[in-house]
Amino acid sequence: MCGIIGYIGQRKTAPILINGLAKLEYRGYDSAGICVLEDQELKTIKKKGMIAELAKDKNINNLSAVLGIAHTRWATHGEPNERNAHPHFDCDGNIAIVHNGIIENHQALKKLLEKHGHKIKSDTDSEIIAHLIEKFYKDDLEEAVIQALNLIEGAFGLAALHKNENRIVVARRGSPLIIGVGDGEMFVASDIPAILEYTKRVIYLNDDELAVIEKDKYQIKKLTGENVDKEIHEIKWTVDQIAKQGYKYFMLKEIFEQPEALLNTLRGRIKENQIKISVDLDITKIKRIIIVACGTSWHSALIGKYLLELITGIKTEVDYASEFRYRQPIVDSDDLMIVISQSGETADTLAALKEAKKKGAKTLGIVNAVGSTITREVDTGIYLHAGPEIGVASTKAFTSQVLALIIFALNTKQNQGEKIDKEIIRELANIPDKISQALKQDKKIIKLADKFKDAKNFLYLGRGFNFPVALEGALKLKEISYIHAEGYPAAEIKHGPIALIDKNMPVVFIATKSNLSQKIISNMQEVKSRNGIIIALVNKGDKDIKKIADHVIEVPETLDEFSPIINVIPLQLLAYHIADLKNLNVDKPRNLAKSVTVE
Ligand code: M6R
Repeated sequence: MCGIIGYIGQRKTAPILINGLAKLEYRGYDSAGICVLEDQELKTIKKKGMIAELAKDKNINNLSAVLGIAHTRWATHGEPNERNAHPHFDCDGNIAIVHNGIIENHQALKKLLEKHGHKIKSDTDSEIIAHLIEKFYKDDLEEAVIQALNLIEGAFGLAALHKNENRIVVARRGSPLIIGVGDGEMFVASDIPAILEYTKRVIYLNDDELAVIEKDKYQIKKLTGENVDKEIHEIKWTVDQIAKQGYKYFMLKEIFEQPEALLNTLRGRIKENQIKISVDLDITKIKRIIIVACGTSWHSALIGKYLLELITGIKTEVDYASEFRYRQPIVDSDDLMIVISQSGETADTLAALKEAKKKGAKTLGIVNAVGSTITREVDTGIYLHAGPEIGVASTKAFTSQVLALIIFALNTKQNQGEKIDKEIIRELANIPDKISQALKQDKKIIKLADKFKDAKNFLYLGRGFNFPVALEGALKLKEISYIHAEGYPAAEIKHGPIALIDKNMPVVFIATKSNLSQKIISNMQEVKSRNGIIIALVNKGDKDIKKIADHVIEVPETLDEFSPIINVIPLQLLAYHIADLKNLNVDKPRNLAKSVTVE
């Protein structure tokens, strides 16, 4: 986690760094800091809290330097305060570093450094790096950084300055870092939005690479010393695409963007009633699929299991990436591992992927962020093309992930020599339009949100394909409104959760038509007879459920296996409006960050 930006060029660096940090705030916002090199002096300002606090400091405007680095923090070691904010320095204040990642052996290194007289001022693991660089520094920052990093175990995206050198030295292992190539100026950042306003020409650093950046040149090396030639990528996203475009929050914009996002996921992938994707995989050699992911992406993975087993008949398992990586899983070369990730940078998902690769599995990524680390690690993949997702709560990534899984499952079926029914293809192409219809429930959902905004607990229940949707509805609510919410398979409530039901408990049923409709009606009766308040998601025209439910939200009908994409829309809106009515910062919920690049 944490966001890094650096600049070297001819312009005043402070406004560029502050602006860039604001675009990276989704990576963490516990504290922020900036350090610039001015008249051979490192000048630093740090603040606890969001970037806005740092930007408010009057001294920022007095900085005239054209070289600097900055950081927004998501705390892992040491509480979020000014002392622990980056940049961190060596003993003499000659070296400044900003760091994203975790130094696992920092305790051992700290002891060693303290023995040699270093005074460590913060509680962070990151400060150790500045002291190690100091230990090795002999008029060459690059060499000192290499030697310091040789001793480090763990993950880093790092940018370093020395007061006597007109350059920035950066390096990465496990935490993302890109270089932006401008005209007589260079940038470094954790992610593209930070620099997109200034340049669209980007180089992705790989693990164990280091770059020395000057205003009109750069040199990239492996940490072992060999020079590396890297391609410059032209970024297609516009600055406009990453702005809020009149919506109060990115999350709301991204919810309403879903018809377009899903059109983009589908684009070019249906031709002449067939699915066309270029996935480099011989499916006849695959005996089992394992899907790993975290959070919302894990919910789409669960739907993926149901889809793949139904459509392709291939045995499919789902694992939390964080569990998979440590439980000594049995994996071999007959397995396909699918990793699902919006950011393509989630540390646990990446580690699970590496574990499966080590054991010989084929790997396929379903990822949104183009060029992200996971996309570069997998054998093959499917991009979501959903556009940048900035709101911490994932919305359009979820629906486009489920759509990508449907596309992959149908494509696999074709590769197994079977034909896909024309009706199914037609229904698939209708999904974006059906999402638009579901979004029309917004006003009704605002009223419901107002009614339930003070509830202390919520239950979300669904069955089959919509059990993961219940989990996703509950996750959306808890992460942005801080209301306690649980998702369950509806039939499970009688094994425990039903004890919670009383007249104060709103229970959201995902009850669109399926072969389990009658069973879900029975589950509703169980809740009703204990005075629970039923909010039911139903297909237009459903009369039976209307008789039982206290409130209904109507969504268009589709195939049961496609229904999660439509059914999650009202649940995203409900969570959004409850959080907004509670005056919470929807895009930046407490304790969370968009991209979880530490374990
Ligand atoms: O970028 P990823 O899809 O790998 O991220 C996984 C989770 O961290 C993410 O889905 C998280 O759960 C979101 N806050 C959910 O809204």
